[in-house]
Amino acid sequence: MAILLPGGAGYIGSHTAIELLKSGKEIIIVDNFSNSKPEVLNKIKQITGKEFKFYELDYLDKEKLEKVFKENKIDAVLNFAGYKAVGESVQKPIEYYTNNISGCLVLLDVMRKYGCKKFIFSSSATVYGDPETIPLTEECKTGGTTNPYGTTKLFIEQILKDIYTSDNTWDICILRYFNPVGAHESGLIGEEPQGIPNNLMPYIVRVASGQLKELSVFGNDYDTHDGTGVRDYIHVVDLAKGHVLALDKLENEQKGLYIYNLGTGTGYSVLDMVKAFENATGKKVPYKIAPRRAGDIATCYAEPKKAKEELGWVAQKTLEDMCKDSWNYIEKSQA
Ligand code: UFG
Repeated sequence: MAILLPGGAGYIGSHTAIELLKSGKEIIIVDNFSNSKPEVLNKIKQITGKEFKFYELDYLDKEKLEKVFKENKIDAVLNFAGYKAVGESVQKPIEYYTNNISGCLVLLDVMRKYGCKKFIFSSSATVYGDPETIPLTEECKTGGTTNPYGTTKLFIEQILKDIYTSDNTWDICILRYFNPVGAHESGLIGEEPQGIPNNLMPYIVRVASGQLKELSVFGNDYDTHDGTGVRDYIHVVDLAKGHVLALDKLENEQKGLYIYNLGTGTGYSVLDMVKAFENATGKKVPYKIAPRRAGDIATCYAEPKKAKEELGWVAQKTLEDMCKDSWNYIEKSQA
């Protein structure tokens, strides 16, 4: 029985592939390399010393996807095949809704046809919109997303709830990621944004490495301890381990639809991140204060208690690990 990972060559998919292989699972990756590179597959093999099957395909291509289900016995699917750039989604809503929502529907339809009903979905804290209360629990109100990317996450969550209502033999786990950063400790795989990064940590590492001149801190007049935006940064390897535990739950416990926040429960500001990065790496990160970025909120961090109680999952890595590993990846990949 294999676990299928659409988008498994991407940032979060590749780190999860490693943790699944390490826990003894058989995996199959499918990817069209729209935002990842083929070399990642060899790096996963190098890190784990394990082999796995790979199919190059777009998960919107139902015929090709069906072939994967015909040729293999697939027990569960972890879907990482989503576009994820907030700004780009505002420019390309049709592409985002098609890839993220239609792609996911094709996948779910094929799964149903082949009697595979265990599904783990990569959702995001973005589904909470502008939080009314902090920390965010899974029961907090969702909605009010401010960009098509976020709305695709919200809509797919609703689709999954409707599927479960129609047929409770599905086992579904929705994981709401907070802000994933860091890289595998080997420095062989990590985050590879195309063009100028939008997210904070990839931007910081490129300033530290001299590829970009300075960081623009988007707003210092938020209602936070130093006026800059506060987020719940989580090491990607901790996040990956959360998927392994979520899969264990779907494989071993009673059927259901479960939702978990995957965050550390601690919020850090933009300036906290700059300081932490400088302390962890000894590199300078020049910055300037710039206007607020449209659609940003002041503060967002998780209450991760439910994942601890029900999955036995707790984020282990420190902020220092996140900074060091992000930097290690950039240094190694540029060497
Ligand atoms: N920031 C800067 N300068 C930059 C980039 C970011 O000051 O160059 C600030 C932002 O204003 C924000 C913080 O750093 O306060 C974090 O910004 P990111 O872009 O790294 O992350 P977001 O919290 O905006 O968004 C991330 C993911 C989304 C996801 C969301 C969930 O990019 O996919 O977390 O909360 F939906």
